[in-house]
This record gives sequence, C-alpha cells and structure tokens, in this order.
Amino acid sequence: MNSINPSQTQAWQRLGTLAEKYNHLEIKDLFKERERFERYSLELEDILVDFSKNRVNDEILHALRDLAEETKLHSAIEAMFTGKHINGTENRAVLHTALRNPSKQSVYLDGEDVMPEVTAVLAKMKSFADQINEGKWLGYTGKPIKSLINIGIGGSDLGPVMVTEALKPYQNPNLDVFFVSNVDGTHIAETLKKVDPETTLFFIASKTFTTQETMTNAHTARNWFLENAKDEKAVAKHFVALSTNAKAVEAFGIDTQNMFEFWDWVGGRYSLWSAIGLSIACAIGFSNFEKLLAGAHSMDEHFRHSQFNRNIPVLLALIGIWNTNFLGATTEAILPYDQYLHRFAAYFQQGNMESNGKYVTRNGEKVNYTTGPVIWGEPGTNGQHAFYQLIHQGTHLIPCDFIAPAISHNPIGDHHQKLLSNFFAQTEALMNGKSLEQVKAEMNKAGKSVEEIDKIAPHRVFEGNRPTNSILVKKITPYTLGQLIAMYEHKIFVQGVIWNIYSFDQWGVELGKVLANGILPELAGEEEVNSHDSSTNGLINAYKKMRKA
Ligand code: F6P
Repeated sequence: MNSINPSQTQAWQRLGTLAEKYNHLEIKDLFKERERFERYSLELEDILVDFSKNRVNDEILHALRDLAEETKLHSAIEAMFTGKHINGTENRAVLHTALRNPSKQSVYLDGEDVMPEVTAVLAKMKSFADQINEGKWLGYTGKPIKSLINIGIGGSDLGPVMVTEALKPYQNPNLDVFFVSNVDGTHIAETLKKVDPETTLFFIASKTFTTQETMTNAHTARNWFLENAKDEKAVAKHFVALSTNAKAVEAFGIDTQNMFEFWDWVGGRYSLWSAIGLSIACAIGFSNFEKLLAGAHSMDEHFRHSQFNRNIPVLLALIGIWNTNFLGATTEAILPYDQYLHRFAAYFQQGNMESNGKYVTRNGEKVNYTTGPVIWGEPGTNGQHAFYQLIHQGTHLIPCDFIAPAISHNPIGDHHQKLLSNFFAQTEALMNGKSLEQVKAEMNKAGKSVEEIDKIAPHRVFEGNRPTNSILVKKITPYTLGQLIAMYEHKIFVQGVIWNIYSFDQWGVELGKVLANGILPELAGEEEVNSHDSSTNGLINAYKKMRKA
C-alpha cells in the first residue's frame, strides 16, 4: 500500500478552499436544482442511496473524487481483492471478499488459490447446518438440537448477533439462538438457565482461540455440560469450534472433526462471512446464508467495478471525509428504521471504530488530520425520543445515515406507514430546520402574547442544514442485508485508504488486555497492592475490602 499524506495532496488543498468558499452553503438551497435527487442518489438492485441532503455540490464532489485518485484508491481496491498483504502491520492479506465469491473463480494469495479451501469449509458448514435444521444432529441422549449458543466476543460475536437478529423472520422456529460474549458470569449464567444440556449446541467462536472472555465462557459451558452429561465423549455432540487455531481447539478438547476453519486473512470484524457465520447458517438455514453471501458479493462487484461517481461505498466514504475533515464532524449516527436491525449500529461500531480509530499513518507518523468518527445509533423511532434533540439543536455536527425497508416483515395496521413517515420527516427536518420568523408566525397564529413569543421563540428555532444519507431498501432479506453490510465495509476501507492508516489491525485493544492479565493474580489473596499508581492501587484495595462483606 502506498503511504500518501492526504493533507499534502492538491485535492485536499482545494477542498480546504471550497470549505471556506461554501461556508454558508445551505442544503435546502441546493434543492433549487430540481434534478438534485436524481443526480445525487444511486440505486443498486433493491437499494436506493440518497446522498442529496449533504452540504456538497458538484465542485466539492469533483474535488473529493480527485482526492481518491491522488491517494491511489483504485490500486488499493485491486490490492485488496487480489490478495496483496495490505494489512501491513501484521503482514496479512485481507480477503473476506473471497468468502462470498459464488463463481468460485480463483483468488490467489501468495500464488495459491484460496477458493478450494473456502469451498470445502462452506460444504462442511452446509452439511452441518442441514443436519441441525433437519433435526438429524442428535445430542448425547438422542434428542435433536433445540438451542444454539454462540460463545465469542468482538468480531466473533457482533456479526452473528446482528445478522441473526436482522434475519429473525427467516429463523428456523424449532431453534432458539443465544449469544454469550461478556466475561461477566451473569451473561453465561442467565443463558444457561434457559437451555437444556441434552438439546444444546455450543459454538466456540474465536479466531485465535486464546481470547480470555471466550475461553473463560467456553470452560464454564463445558463444566456445566459435563456436570449434566457426565461423559467426556458426549462433548463431541455438543461443542463445535470456529477458529483458525487447530492446536488450541484440540487442547480445549474439541475434536478437530468438529472444527470449522478459517484463515488469518479474514479479519475478526469481517469474519461473519466465514466459519464464524456457522451459527447464522444454522439459525436461518444454509440457503439463506448463501443469499447473504451473494448479496455481499453483488456489492463487492459494484464497488470493484463502478466508476467513482457511480460507486455507492466510495461516495459514502468521500462524503464522510468531507463531513469529518472539512466540516468538523467527529461522529456519525447510524439510524435504522427497522427493529430487526437493532444491533446494526453496534456492529459497525466495531467495524468502523476498530478499523479506523487510528492516529498513526501507514509510514508510522502521527496524522495531522482527523480519522475515524465515533459511531453510534439506535433504531428509529426510539432514538427520536432519546437523543435526536441533540442532533437537531445541539452544538455537535452529527451526520446521520437513515436506513429503512419499504416492506415490513410485520405489516400490522398502519405501523409501517407511521414508522416511515418519521423516517422521511426526520431528514427533511434536519435539512430545513425552522427559522425564527416561522416560529414567531406560528406562535402569533396560535394567539400567543408578544412577550411569550419573544421569550420562547428562540428555543423553538431549528438551524437545520444537518447532513444525512437516506438508504431505502425494498425489504430486509438475507441478500439485501449482505449488500448493506458490504457497503459499509467498503466505505470504511475507502476512508482508511485515504486517511493513510492501516484499517485491518487493532493494536489499540492490546494494552488493556495485557494490563488486565497483570492485575488478575493481584486480585487473589488479601495482601494490599502497591504496584500501580495511587488511584489504581486505591481502587484494587477498596475492592478487596468491599468483597468481604
Ligand atoms: O477486540 C479485539 C479483537 O481482537 C477483535 O478484533 C476480535 O474480533 C475479538 O478481539 C475476538 O477475537 P477472537 O476471535 O480471536 O476471539
């Protein structure tokens, strides 16, 4: 990968000038151009992405595309798809796109085609998921499996949770699916209360098979299971491993026959497409899992082959860069108007923040510009009654992505129309706002006194001009969900390329892990701890006193 400081490019300089020139640009004024929606929205099959309600015009978009050219985005995209080692700090390729390559066309990594291995694992996943779905995989007392528990954390949890929640309408009704991630014993304890060892299957999902939280939960699950089954041999029927680390899987006591493999070129937060997706494949059936992969592949093809001015992930990324680096936004909200997508923002919190939360450039220097935004969000309309106040009238600029399906899986009465009327109204309100004159006129019409109008009116003013993208999807299906996930993945990738950072490592999570491992033995026994600063010592010693009670 090249290392180009984006702030040194001509396009960046031009964008800086444009930010000043268009300092007072009002989104609503841009709609004087009648064709703006047609020109500033793109469709891919059943997905419509409207980016017209942003503070951008043709000149700005042009300069943003130049920035992509100057930072060599084309060659970075090709480098990713063709297995170059673009994860420079770990010297790894980044080939999650090969996991969703239905043509099985060869993808070479260091001269070797990865597709035969990918295809073999998919075939093994299919056979397993089919047996679970058909009730043919039997537990140690001969009963079919009813409860699936995925034990994993981060990328080995968030993707499977988000997708199984998003695709609940497709779930096999004979199966219950649970996810245990937190090392807090409450998570596994409360989950185990709901299941029967005779009919429960555990997926131990961990790329490294060393992660403290996952291994602790996995051992607890195994002990619980053996207390009931009282036979080590029964473990094979109730525990499978999803991992890259065969040795550690064997050492844990899971037969490698029951291991579903993936590879170091699959990043944790990009792993739902791999064997980590086995809980998804079992929950919604393998053919639906294949549709999820096919949807992602369609977005991959669009991303790889479309011109930048027609390329959805590229445009979303460029507009994000405009908002972040030239309008000063430091956060982005993802707001799905679909209850099934309630974990979508949480999923991309890891996807985006673990990828682009970096201040060191690809050549090891400190950046002199802002990188990855803080990502958060909740489903509409719940968010409206919680934090939208700040989006509308707060002091932060918060670009928002609104996502909604046109067709609901639950068309009850007028629920969906009401939901979508809110979806449409919010982006309009965020753009148009409400002027002091409008507020005063309204209050006047309502018969308010001049005194009251003067006092209250300023509080009822909305500045507007808040940027949003609207993503309208015909229906949330395995296919369209695959497209949506891949769309955000590629947006994040593009931004990482332009910000000149490594998006596929996560060194920032290491320090806390190492320190926790150091503190763990200090928590045993009664002795006072003195090895840290006075705050950390004080807290540990206070904890030791409190736990006696
Ligand atoms: O939080 C750091 C991290 O390494 C993530 O990137 C990863 O998704 C998660 O931990 C879990 O790792 P593993 O799959 O190896 O257990």
